[in-house]
Amino acid sequence: MTTNEIRSKFLEFARKYEHEIIASSALVPENDPTTLFTGSGMQPMVPYLLGQKHPLGTRIADSQKCFRSQDIEEVGDNRHTTFFEMLGNWSLGDFFKETQIPFMWKFLIEEIKLDPKHFYISCFAGSPDIGIPKDTESAELWRNLFAAKGIQADIGENPEQDGLVAGQKIFYYGEKKNWWSRAGVPQNMPVGEPGGPDTEMFYDFYPHLDRGCIPNTPWSGEFCHVNCDCGRFIEIGNNVFMEYVRTESGFEKLTQQNVDFGGGLERIVAATRNDADVFNIDVFDIPKQTIKKLSGKTYEGEHVYAYRVILDHLRAATFLVGDGVLPGNKDQMYFVRRLIRRAVRFARTLGIQENFTKEVVASYIEVYSGEYTNLLEKKEAILSAIDTEESKFRKTLENGIKEFERISKRDHFNIQNRQINNENKRIFGHEAFNLLQSYGFPIELTQELAKEKGWEVDLEDFEILKKEHAESSRTASAGKFKGGLGGDGEMETKYHTATHMLHQALKIVLGENVQQKGSNITSERLRFDFAYDRKMTDEEKKQVEDIVNEHIKKDLPMVREEIRYEEAVARGAIGLFGDKYGDTVSIYYMGSSGNKRGDDGLFSIEFCGGPHVEHTGVLGTFRISKEEAVSAGVRRIKAVLE
Ligand code: SER
Repeated sequence: MTTNEIRSKFLEFARKYEHEIIASSALVPENDPTTLFTGSGMQPMVPYLLGQKHPLGTRIADSQKCFRSQDIEEVGDNRHTTFFEMLGNWSLGDFFKETQIPFMWKFLIEEIKLDPKHFYISCFAGSPDIGIPKDTESAELWRNLFAAKGIQADIGENPEQDGLVAGQKIFYYGEKKNWWSRAGVPQNMPVGEPGGPDTEMFYDFYPHLDRGCIPNTPWSGEFCHVNCDCGRFIEIGNNVFMEYVRTESGFEKLTQQNVDFGGGLERIVAATRNDADVFNIDVFDIPKQTIKKLSGKTYEGEHVYAYRVILDHLRAATFLVGDGVLPGNKDQMYFVRRLIRRAVRFARTLGIQENFTKEVVASYIEVYSGEYTNLLEKKEAILSAIDTEESKFRKTLENGIKEFERISKRDHFNIQNRQINNENKRIFGHEAFNLLQSYGFPIELTQELAKEKGWEVDLEDFEILKKEHAESSRTASAGKFKGGLGGDGEMETKYHTATHMLHQALKIVLGENVQQKGSNITSERLRFDFAYDRKMTDEEKKQVEDIVNEHIKKDLPMVREEIRYEEAVARGAIGLFGDKYGDTVSIYYMGSSGNKRGDDGLFSIEFCGGPHVEHTGVLGTFRISKEEAVSAGVRRIKAVLE
């Protein structure tokens, strides 16, 4: 059975049970500011689960396009994809457990003929903390269904301790595994959020194995149980009994008992084929052939990982662009960019050096346009958007490789003994981060290039920087600026970066002894006080302006790093430092990699918590509007960006 057939069968079956079939919503939710993407079928249903009347009644079903951005880096194994279709059915205060469980069983066992012996089930163990009881009703319903097929189905009370025990089919898990809400576990749910216990269905792809994970996999030898996520038992569907809502004081029952079922279509298709690799289902056949034609490599051995990344990412990009999300730097658009770049980077490992995404995307449009007609309607626009992004990245890809070569030629200055040591060279965290920030190099690409030279990458430092950057961008967008900034807008951020440039330029023009005494920023100007004993000449002011403007034009990246205080001093970091800093300090580099101030390409390095612009190029033109005395030995500059 093909994916199309199984999708149709599910919707047909739901119709027989009086469900109204609705079309898939777009991947970008309408009127839902809480999330960037539609990541589950229930998202568009929330108002109805909470009690609003659905115009089509109390039984609804669909196949919903979903995108889970958090899974980008999981892609590459046999079952994770960022994009997938979720088969869904809902009872909005209509039937409950005793109907839903047999309904699902019938569909899976009778309609699409999965072998019941392969099935395992998980149910909610209950939570005394929040006063929600164990879901024994579901467990009993399942046990009877297995019994009717002549299958012994004992109940495992402690699967995370006991693993798989002969004869057991149904397992109780706690709220981490068997409670579902958009926010996850009950403790994370905001007031007003609906949720409830769930019962999940797992398909065993390796029933001949008595217990334990699949041999010769990264997991073999690990402790295995049904919900351990080792890849042997794959969750193919989840029935949520959504009857609770979070309140100020705990949990209350909603006014109605709902069912929210979601099942991964691709995984269900994989189960019908008894092949745990979801990338072997029919929808990937044509795209796979295209990749094979372009690369000359088959979907085997060392190439499987790259194939999967390309197959997943370009399918997701096709659907996202189809739903109107173009590649870019912000929000949803950034994910499309990342998907395309990762696909291009992994294609490189298959030996594909020229634009290729267009052909794979065209294959997906061919596969899916019967079901998703918008893909065909927008075919040209989708192909061109993805191809353009690929060309753009291929350009920076080349520059990034040049930058990498440049890094590879620099001496390795050992910060501990202050000596040059070119053996055991390493790519510093901030260099890898700069390659990511300025050239769009995913860390895997940097690692791959480093490996070719027998070097290591400071992965830990890189991860810290990446995390901090993500946090500081979030902080910046939430408007909670630290570092004495008066406002929360874009202009203040620009002036903050300009302040670093001014500081460094003053040191160049007036001498290293220029010391910052204070700084104040509004959205209209920056103000910078520094210790200096005389008025600046017009010539000096002009020089400072020129130096700042020259470095704005260079479009230098701003890179944050957290390092030990001594190391920061050794690298020549400037700024207001003293005992108020702890052992570890946050610094900002302006310019490409280099580990000391004064190194080629590193314009400034300063103690600072941010926020800053990503690249100096956005600052415009810098002009000193005033230079005056504030007190004896302290001068004040006011400057604007125009
Ligand atoms: N909301 C549940 C899930 O996403 C079932 O649809 O798994």
